[in-house]
Formats: sequence, structure tokens, C-alpha cells
Amino acid sequence: MRNLQLPIHTPRLQLREFTREDLDGIFGYSSDPKVTRYLFFGPRDRDSTAEYLDDLLASQRQRPRTRFELAITEISSGVLIGACDLSLIETRVCDLGYMLGHRYWDRGYATEVALTLTDAAFQQLRAERVISTVDVNNRASIRVLEKIGMRWEAVYRKHRRAKNRWWDCHLYTLPRTVWESARGVQTC
Ligand SMILES: CC(C)(COP(=O)(O)OP(=O)(O)OC[C@H]1O[C@@H](n2cnc3c(N)ncnc32)[C@H](O)[C@@H]1OP(=O)(O)O)[C@@H](O)C(=O)NCCC(=O)NCCS
Repeated sequence: MRNLQLPIHTPRLQLREFTREDLDGIFGYSSDPKVTRYLFFGPRDRDSTAEYLDDLLASQRQRPRTRFELAITEISSGVLIGACDLSLIETRVCDLGYMLGHRYWDRGYATEVALTLTDAAFQQLRAERVISTVDVNNRASIRVLEKIGMRWEAVYRKHRRAKNRWWDCHLYTLPRTVWESARGVQTC
């Protein structure tokens, strides 16, 4: 069965399972309209944060597990600073996502997370393709996807209706072959 070995470490961050004790930390960033501006949900109130956490904790027990939504903590401070996720949306296709509390933006953290999670998707979940969809106006996230070597593949007009508007989104993808040559991975 495919699984992720947790926790995962990046140079400055730890990616670990969420626990019940994370409720306040999650509420801290997901109640911030700056953070949820380009996300289909939010800002969340306390009740919807608790519902989200219940749902997330239930997904940890699913077998086979298809959703790996992980807490991002800063190693130096031990603080929960955001969330990231890999979801197996098809057998060999992983969808990548991330969000950080705004105090932690522009330090290269999301790039660090996205690089490490794509490696985990190919190495541990044995994905053939990692994808991410991003609102066409979300410049910071688009830049992160480009920095980790993902390629623009399409634009979906009216991809989703959420928060009383239609969302136009870019699709970025990373095929295994491109990841292997970028990372110098040997295949036989
Ligand atoms: C998107 C997000 C995760 C980026 O996190 P981060 O840790 O700041 O990202 P990084 O520091 O690794 O990289 C950000 C890059 O975007 C660039 N950037 C930031 N704001 C930008 C803007 N408005 N326009 C263009 N580029 C921008 C930064 O300069 C940096 O690029 P550089 O390294 O070439 O200078 C963070 O902004 C966030 O949590 N946003 C809210 C949630 C969200 O939108 N998640 C993504 C959903 S698809």
C-alpha cells in the first residue's frame, strides 16, 4: 500500500500529521482573509475550522489513504505555520497544495515544502504526474510552481464556482520523466 513516511523534514520545516491540539493554530491562519483570498474556502470561523479538522483527522484513518494533508511547523520555533497536501486524485496522479500564515510568506518556505512534497509524491506514492491548479491571479503561488519546475499546461475558464464567483485557474503539471531528469534520478 502506498504511504508517506512521516514526519518529513525540509531544511527549515517539518511536515507532520495534524492533531486535535492544532485547532487554534489552524484557526489562526485559515481565518485570515489575506491567506484565503485565492482559496475556494474561507476565511473560516471556529466552527468550520473544527469541522475541517474532524474531516482531516478522519482522512488519516482511511485505507487506502488518498489524502495527506499535513501540518507545516517551523523547526526553529516549533510553531505551526500552515498546511500542505498531496491528494491521490487518480491512481498515479497527485494534486499538490499549500498555504502559510501571512507572517511566514516570502522566506522561500512554500518552495521548500513544494519541492519536498513532489519528491515524496514520486518516490513514496509512486506518482506518474504531480499537478496543481491555481487561481490565475495568485502570482506568488504560480511563482512557487514555476520555481520547482512545474510546467504550465492549460487554463480552465470557470473552473469552479465558489464564494459567489467563477474561478479561472491555471493547471500546472510535473511528469515523472521531467522530475527524474531534473533531479538526476537513475532509472533502469
Ligand atoms: C502562495 C504561498 C504559499 C507562497 O508562500 P511563500 O513561502 O511566500 O513562497 P516562496 O517564498 O517560496 O516563493 C514566493 C515567490 O513568489 C514571489 N511573489 C510573491 N508575491 C508575488 C506577487 N504578488 N507577484 C509576483 N511574484 C510574487 C516571491 O518573490 C517569490 O519568488 P522569488 O523567490 O523568485 O523572489 C503564500 O503566499 C500563501 O500561503 N498564500 C495563501 C494561500 C495560497 O494561495 N495557497 C496556494 C493555493 S494554489
